[in-house]
Amino acid sequence: MCGIFGCVLRNEMAGPIIRSALERLEYRGYDSIGQATLSSGKIFVKKDKGKISEVQKTLNFDEMLGKLGLGHTRWATHGMPSKENAHPHLDCDGNIAVVHNGIIENFMELRKNLEPKHKFRSRTDSEVISHLIEDYMEEGENLEEATRLTAKRIKGSFAVAAISNQEHDKLVCIKKESPLIVGVGEEGVYCSSDMSALLPLTKNALIMEDGELGVLKIDEIKFIKIKNGESVKKEITKIEWTLSDAMKGGYPHFTIKEINEQPTSIRNTLRISPIYHELIASKLCDSERIFLIACGTSYHACIAGSYLFSKISKIDSRPVIASEFKDQYSEILNSKTAIIALSQSGETADTIEALKTVREKKASILSITNVMGSSITRFSDIYIGQNSGPEIGVAATKSFTSQLAILTKLALTMATKRNSMDEENRREIDRGLKTLPSYIEKVIERVDDKVKSIAKKYVDSESFSFLGRGINSATALEGRLKLLELTYTPSLAYPAGEVKHGFIATVESNRPAIFIAPRDDNHNKIINNIMELKSRGAKIISLIEKDDKKIIEMSDDYIEMPQMHALLTPLTYIVPLQLFAYYMAVEKDLDPDKPRHLAKSVTVE
Ligand code: AGP
Ligand code: GLU
Repeated sequence: MCGIFGCVLRNEMAGPIIRSALERLEYRGYDSIGQATLSSGKIFVKKDKGKISEVQKTLNFDEMLGKLGLGHTRWATHGMPSKENAHPHLDCDGNIAVVHNGIIENFMELRKNLEPKHKFRSRTDSEVISHLIEDYMEEGENLEEATRLTAKRIKGSFAVAAISNQEHDKLVCIKKESPLIVGVGEEGVYCSSDMSALLPLTKNALIMEDGELGVLKIDEIKFIKIKNGESVKKEITKIEWTLSDAMKGGYPHFTIKEINEQPTSIRNTLRISPIYHELIASKLCDSERIFLIACGTSYHACIAGSYLFSKISKIDSRPVIASEFKDQYSEILNSKTAIIALSQSGETADTIEALKTVREKKASILSITNVMGSSITRFSDIYIGQNSGPEIGVAATKSFTSQLAILTKLALTMATKRNSMDEENRREIDRGLKTLPSYIEKVIERVDDKVKSIAKKYVDSESFSFLGRGINSATALEGRLKLLELTYTPSLAYPAGEVKHGFIATVESNRPAIFIAPRDDNHNKIINNIMELKSRGAKIISLIEKDDKKIIEMSDDYIEMPQMHALLTPLTYIVPLQLFAYYMAVEKDLDPDKPRHLAKSVTVE
């Protein structure tokens, strides 16, 4: 998600101070950038689409004078990257400027109410905030109270900073579920999405909690609760981190940070308005043929997705590797075909090439991507943004679970339309999806040490096999891809039932086999598969539901997972496999963030 920064200074240097802070926040989002400063009683705004280095050349943020200012580096969730959609956003008369990180879930209904009286300039969810503050200030409230009342009206996640030319000595900020830290320095006070932006300015931080509002003045900082205005006391925290530590949020690598971020990224993914799911589900339900196309990790999400479509929505779909798509299917595409393209980057050349064929044949292009404004969103008739936030680690982790969460929601939306699933079952999956973020939190907490010790134990193994049945054959493929990418260990992944048709010949004494074996309809069959390998000397590592005594007895090592709906298990069982690949890389002294020969976004065919 995006980065926000605000400052109240002793000097007039707001422009360059904000610009350099945004450079340190740019890893959080980089499709647009903007700054606002208050000077001679007026708010000045410069903003545009593009990376800081590019936009700086034309707009020169350093020329912006002022003691008070805001900045934003954007990762679009609502509204394409464009100058209009870039933050800061103003009220109607340019008296109030606002930057926002997060998603306002009820923005449509708020905007509808505000629209008759207000002039909206962007398509973002965020702009409702400046107009709500405007309304309250017009009613006579000061900036602090107007922002507090606005915070009570907006639903979703937010870190917001606001300034007004009516109150030139202060900045007001609010926080719920998006990070926000206040920095207290000699030359100024600051608010920022994370420590990285604060580090060269100060080592003294005040950490804001959800539901709090801060009023920052040069010699006075106060915090209150949004709920009732009650005052909140805070102690200074000394920042001990280096700049690069801070950008990784204290984790040693982006990859482990991103694995740990999954509860938050899935929460953000699930915030996407149901309207997008409705639109895509309608298209899919009206189609005669559905293909899910992608590469790498996104392709594995497609495989799991096609299980969800057939089991939940009772609709046929085919997952296809993008580079194979044209060759095999171009002759059978027509206007009754719907293609779902999955791509974290939205720039993968193989996927784009496949879409060119699709477009020629007039089939519908629906896409799920993490980068709004990317080539794939521009190719699409309709798209859903993953909202996972920037993924810096080359190996995809949080984007897999976000993609799969979207496909599950889509499958449920189609199930409702087609009446294809009994209501109780449908509700159970829906509930499971909602509790998924907290489940993943628990999984990470419980299994982290165990996975680390298993990685240590097996670090010298020459190869691994990953085996699962049903929807978890996709989990096996993705677990194996993580290990390949991060540790270069030659490994195999198979639907476990296929093992006896050839794979079994490769089994050697002490060679580890990782089984993904929740207690689902395939449970008894996978027990047989475990036996087949165990009796030939393989070391068995199993991912199982808690207290699965039968499998525990057969396993050399096991990881116990919380019980959940069978169709949601890839979303949780992948997490220990991501951790396993990460800890193996660390044990082998490899750089998990930048595996050799790989690129985050593969823009060649
Ligand atoms: C290289 O490791 C990639 N991260 C790869 O596995 C990736 O999943 C694939 O290239 C697809 O990328 P996309 O989701 O951005 O299209
Ligand atoms: N939802 C806002 C937008 O799309 C903020 C995005 C973010 O936090 O990255 O502009």
